[in-house]
Amino acid sequence: MVVSSHLNRAAVARVLEELVQGAWASTFDLFSPELIQGLATEVAQRHQLGWMQPALIGRQVGLLHDGNQRGDSIQWLDPTGSTAERSFLEAIEELMALIRSELYVPVRTYEAHFACYEAGRHYAKHKDRFRDADERELSTVLFLNPEWKPQDQGQLLIFDPDREDRVLAEVLPELGRFVLFRSDRVPHEVLAPHKPRYSIAGWMRRQSGVLT
Ligand code: OGA
Ligand code: MN
Repeated sequence: MVVSSHLNRAAVARVLEELVQGAWASTFDLFSPELIQGLATEVAQRHQLGWMQPALIGRQVGLLHDGNQRGDSIQWLDPTGSTAERSFLEAIEELMALIRSELYVPVRTYEAHFACYEAGRHYAKHKDRFRDADERELSTVLFLNPEWKPQDQGQLLIFDPDREDRVLAEVLPELGRFVLFRSDRVPHEVLAPHKPRYSIAGWMRRQSGVLT
């Protein structure tokens, strides 16, 4: 296995334990501070350069952009991209290997995008596995906002899988926070922030993409 200096093994153990106890987990120290800083700098640059595009809902052509449901702009991560992008994807590969061996969840491929929610934009309550045939197992979000304050809002709301109207957590999108949850079970929502809110949202999937 590739040894990545960017993944903190002690934090992995804690996060996986938390995930098996409930349907979601959160930590601040999964990735090295250098990697988090590199990604934060990059996402802000991409946004300022105008590289991020309005997201689509669902994957089918025809399900067109609807800012009322989903207001983020995105750019997919590229495994042959920048150093920070590659280091992040390598660390995630290593994390998936540990999830396979420790939790016996057969996650094999990862897709992820940088995301920016401008002030006032939100993502209505949803689950990330939107088709039965979809192979998304685990959803991840890494937040990339230095000095985010409670009054900046933009919380990720996590709902109880067994009582979907009940809020389990209101997570502020603070720099370095990494959230992991079951794609099929956990409803979640992004509240509108008061200033641009950056993250990397990603999905660990079973076998290779039969569906794209
Ligand atoms: C998503 C999503 C959450 C976030 O893109 O599906 O729920 O906090 N993102 O960026
Ligand atoms: Mn989601």
